Amino acid sequence: MIPYKTILIIDRSNRQPIYLQLTHQFIDLIKSKTIPSNTKLPSSRLLSDLVGVHRKTIVACYDELILQGWIISIPKKGTYVNSTIPELQQQWTDNLLQSRAKISGFSFSKNDILQRTFPQAFQDDFIYVNDGVSDERLTPIKELATIYRKLAGKKETLKHIGYGTTFGNLKLREVLVEYLNETRGLNITIDNILITRGSQMGMFLASQLLIENEEYFIIGETNYSSADTTFQYANAKLLRVKVDENGLDTKAIEQLCRRYNVKAVYTTSHHHHPTTVTLSAERRMHLLNLAKTHSFAVLEDDYDYDFHYNHAPILPLASHDTNGNVIYVGSICKTVAPVFRVGYLIASKDFVDECANLRRFIDRQGDAVLELTFAHFIKEGSLDRHINKVVRAYKDRRDFFCEYLKQELGDYLSFKTPKGGMAIWVTLNKKYSWKEVVKIAAQNKLIFSEWQRYDSANTNHNAVRIGFARYTKEEAKEFVLRLKKTILQLV
Ligand SMILES: Cc1ncc(COP(=O)(O)O)c(C=O)c1O
Repeated sequence: MIPYKTILIIDRSNRQPIYLQLTHQFIDLIKSKTIPSNTKLPSSRLLSDLVGVHRKTIVACYDELILQGWIISIPKKGTYVNSTIPELQQQWTDNLLQSRAKISGFSFSKNDILQRTFPQAFQDDFIYVNDGVSDERLTPIKELATIYRKLAGKKETLKHIGYGTTFGNLKLREVLVEYLNETRGLNITIDNILITRGSQMGMFLASQLLIENEEYFIIGETNYSSADTTFQYANAKLLRVKVDENGLDTKAIEQLCRRYNVKAVYTTSHHHHPTTVTLSAERRMHLLNLAKTHSFAVLEDDYDYDFHYNHAPILPLASHDTNGNVIYVGSICKTVAPVFRVGYLIASKDFVDECANLRRFIDRQGDAVLELTFAHFIKEGSLDRHINKVVRAYKDRRDFFCEYLKQELGDYLSFKTPKGGMAIWVTLNKKYSWKEVVKIAAQNKLIFSEWQRYDSANTNHNAVRIGFARYTKEEAKEFVLRLKKTILQLV
């Protein structure tokens, strides 16, 4: 007889009811043929004695197994393992769970360009260099929670929680139309806006629709690397142009337009990612004229419009576009917190409509209650108040970080204090390389992940982007001191 007493294990500290624990063990034993088909199972009374549980528990277990078809009960004869279950052709290993989790039993397309090494877990005493993120401690999470709770208690909110429009919550679209027209000088109506789950979704949708047949996308020689990946994944062929202190070189774009069928130019015009420079007024107009002449799209990623410290914000290209060339993407993910996946894509109606059609198949719809929450947050002026607060804090942090970095490490690296944004672009003296620095820095609990992605074009510019906005003075000091310790180890 099968040694049920030893192979069935009951864990009384487990939250799963005992009858279910036994059921699952029986299923595994039947699947692995440890209990072969047609085997007669012990009576419920005998088994309950063997494993030391109440008879009702065994009855419940057998009932469950019968219900699921693993065993059958034959009147007056007993309970048997169902003989009609085909043998599972499966490899049985000691550690079944592990083998399930790691290896797929099918092939699938795996694309090298999607591979990233971003840390998935963070340790407290390490500093993880970021490329310009907000400080989560300044997030108005309580105010947002209060609005969310109030909305959730209202009967009329119920009509928003079913399957709804793929364009995003109507109220938020209305509020954003007004807000973006006022703050960014856009001239849009409700037909021009799709709510997305952040700028990234906007870029994904736009590039999937723009590229029909391996067309060319122009990007900066340095560029936001996730944008490169997004476009390559959509099958775009990338052409790079130089980026200087005035942003993308639009003369180079003009030359490329003569030789190639350019479908789009991607720009982070407000502060170029990663170098932080602003696209000059002259180049903005030049780019828009080129877009009209050559009928290409300008994909404007305005990821940090709200963060400017020395001057009024520069209106996006989208505010000057009367020919329907600009696709404008933005979000509150940088402004409020990345976890709130609420963004927008602004474009001509026909393009927005098609984006909404495509969006359905990667994400049926957004989080309408969260979107409503942000509609209220913006309408009540809370977003503006939050922006004023954090811009003041980040300006102080920028000033301190830059001064302290220069004071401590000015002999080894150089940078320009950025006019806005949440990061600086730091070039290391030629004598050193980030490759060496990054290795030693890790020993000093300072982690620069993916620093190579700032030089996808392999120009050896020896620079990386370092976020400052997340650090208080004390944290900024600690950061700089760890970096200094690192560099001094190399001298
Ligand atoms: C230049 C740039 N564009 C887009 C994004 C993505 O932003 P979101 O969180 O709104 O998807 C980021 C995020 O880091 C970014 O740096």
